[in-house]
Amino acid sequence: MGSRWQVEKHKDPYYKRAKQEDYRSRASYKLKQLDKKFKLIKQGNTVVDLGAAPGGWSQVALEKVGEDGIVVGVDLNRFKKFHEENYYGIRGDFTTPEVQEKIIELIGGKAKVVMSDASPSLCGIKNIDQLRSIDLTNAVIEIAENILEEKGNLVMKVFQGPEYKSMLDSLKGKFRQVKTTKPASSRKKSSEMYVVGLKYRPKKNRKENKN
Ligand SMILES: C[S@@+](CC[C@H](N)C(=O)[O-])C[C@H]1O[C@@H](n2cnc3c(N)ncnc32)[C@H](O)[C@@H]1O
Repeated sequence: MGSRWQVEKHKDPYYKRAKQEDYRSRASYKLKQLDKKFKLIKQGNTVVDLGAAPGGWSQVALEKVGEDGIVVGVDLNRFKKFHEENYYGIRGDFTTPEVQEKIIELIGGKAKVVMSDASPSLCGIKNIDQLRSIDLTNAVIEIAENILEEKGNLVMKVFQGPEYKSMLDSLKGKFRQVKTTKPASSRKKSSEMYVVGLKYRPKKNRKENKN
C-alpha cells in the first residue's frame, strides 16, 4: 500500500488522463483550461515558460504555437529534453539576471506570452513561505514587463497572501484586462490561483505617462 498522497494521485482523473494522453504532468490540463477560456497562445507565438519542469505546460504551448513559434522553458530542475527544434530549455533560476539575459537572447528580445506555474520551495514557516512566494511573483512580473510585446499575455500561478490584492492592483494599469481564476483541474484544497493579464500595455502607452 502506498502513501495517502500516492493513493490520491492515482485516483485523480487528471493524473490518469495525463498518463493516457501522454502529457508530462496533470498541470497540462490547467493550461489547456486557461487557454480555452482566455485564448492566451496562438500559432506562431513566442512563449516563455517560467518554472517549466517536468514540461506539461511547455508541451501544451508547443502544440499551440506550432512549428513557426518558439517556446523557452526555464527550471531549477533538470527535465526531459524536448526534441522539437523550436524548444529551448534553460536550467537555472529565473530570478537571476544571468538567466533573464539568456531568455532574452534565445527569444531575440520579445515574447507574446509569459507564463509561470512556478512554486517556491516551501519550508512550512508561514511568513517565510509567503515572502518566497511574493519574491517569485515579483520576478515573474518584472520579466513580463521586460520582454512582453505590446498586447502580449501573462498567466501566472500565485498563492493568496497579504500582498495579493496590491499585486493585482499593480497589474491593472499594465494590462488591458486582469482576471483571476482557478481552473477545474486545480485542486480545491490548494490556495493557488491563476492571474491572467491580457493585452500588455508597455510603459510608454500607459495613461499615467501621457500628458
Ligand atoms: C508545479 S511545477 C511546474 C509544473 C509545470 N507547469 C508542468 O506543467 O509540468 C513548479 C516548478 O517551478 C520551479 N521553480 C520554482 N522556482 C523557480 C525559479 N526561481 N527558477 C526556475 N524554476 C523555478 C520548480 O523547480 C518546479 O519545477
